[in-house]
Amino acid sequence: MAGTVTVVVGTQWGDEGKGKLVDLLSKETDVCMRFQGGGNAGHTVVNEYGEFKLHLVPCGIFNTGCICIMGTGTVVDPLALLAEMASIEEKGVSTEHLFISNRAHVVMPYHKLLDKVEDEARGAYRVETTGRGIGPAYTDKVGRIGIRFNDLLHEDMLRAKLTAVVRKHNTILEHVYHQPPFDVEKLIADALSWGQQLQSRIIDTVPVVRAALAENKNILLEGQLSAMKDIDWGSYPFVTSSSPTAAGAAAGAGIPPQKINRVIGVAKAYSTQVGTGPMPTELHDEQGTNLRNLGGEYGATTGRPRRIGWFDAVVTRYVTEINGCTDLNITKLDVLDTLAEIPICTGYRYNGQLIEYLPDEIIHEKCEPVYEIMPGWQQSTLEAKTLQDLPVNARAYLNRLAELVNVRIHSVGVGPNRDQTIMAE
Ligand code: GTP
Repeated sequence: MAGTVTVVVGTQWGDEGKGKLVDLLSKETDVCMRFQGGGNAGHTVVNEYGEFKLHLVPCGIFNTGCICIMGTGTVVDPLALLAEMASIEEKGVSTEHLFISNRAHVVMPYHKLLDKVEDEARGAYRVETTGRGIGPAYTDKVGRIGIRFNDLLHEDMLRAKLTAVVRKHNTILEHVYHQPPFDVEKLIADALSWGQQLQSRIIDTVPVVRAALAENKNILLEGQLSAMKDIDWGSYPFVTSSSPTAAGAAAGAGIPPQKINRVIGVAKAYSTQVGTGPMPTELHDEQGTNLRNLGGEYGATTGRPRRIGWFDAVVTRYVTEINGCTDLNITKLDVLDTLAEIPICTGYRYNGQLIEYLPDEIIHEKCEPVYEIMPGWQQSTLEAKTLQDLPVNARAYLNRLAELVNVRIHSVGVGPNRDQTIMAE
């Protein structure tokens, strides 16, 4: 349908498989934009060009007719972006249609060092960040001392801003964290060279969005992580420094909120989480190891083993409500193919009370999951093309998830390839 503005968001803790859905939807998309985050994302796409782990480049890049943008709400490491573009081009994919908002913030080398030393200093409240400099870049943005992509094209402005911010960070790095200082002249030279290399791609996104809306084009806003990692709505402080929600999409992409007419929440058929934070359904036993191996649950950015648990309907219902999800994409149903029984967490027990909503993180940490046990289907779903092709118990499982979360199913993933997606309608 023309004129659709779609947001794709995660509904658990990230890594739900948003990349695959965005790649699929991008066939019918004119503008695909990342609206928050940066190189801490790891969107895996498997298509006719091969397998890609996209950290920065929007997953719409494989459709040459789709304008791909790192939006204003993102923070981008220019070197990592140039390297990612080169690795994509090597596999025969053009990046001619890739642009960066002139208002997006630059992740500088000192952000990456700060990310590491500051996270170590948090002690028990360590976030276990990806170390890509995302948090410190957002801290500078909010502190109004960030460097924007526009600055890379204006030497005088860049010099003045960098001189001040590097003086501040060097003082902290040297005196608090006992780290060597950064050479501001080298940073200025490097930043100007990144600006030169990316010059033709640094744009004001406002006219692009305005034209796309006026011409009834399809716009796709690609989120990373999930509201459980949102700076306001997630399990603070074990969160990211931006807002991976539909509201964050409007803000970060510069889209009027009322223009968004579809919000697709992506949910894995079970749960995973990377990093610290409450996770009542986490499995610490052999079942967890088994599920981790079946699902290949190792981080796309860090390679870290992901924490594994059963589907938590309380979490996904909370996230879909925060986002106003209109549709649900369930991924990795095939990973459950061999199981005899599949528990779904429908509520929590806390202090002898049953609770069915998401409590604050201090209580959440202490909640015991209440499970409903669904029978497994114990046959392969990998070849299924329609919902009717799925075993009866697999359909029952999906229907129960949709009922508990109260959002209709849009599509179901039964394998990593683009064509292993069942469209519900
Ligand atoms: P973040 O934005 O970083 O949270 O990532 P993401 O939501 O794009 O997820 P990511 O790509 O990190 O992880 C999903 C993994 O599952 C990838 O390896 C995908 O290839 C794979 N995948 C996606 N859908 C399916 C599916 O339906 N079945 C199977 N078996 N694998 C899938």
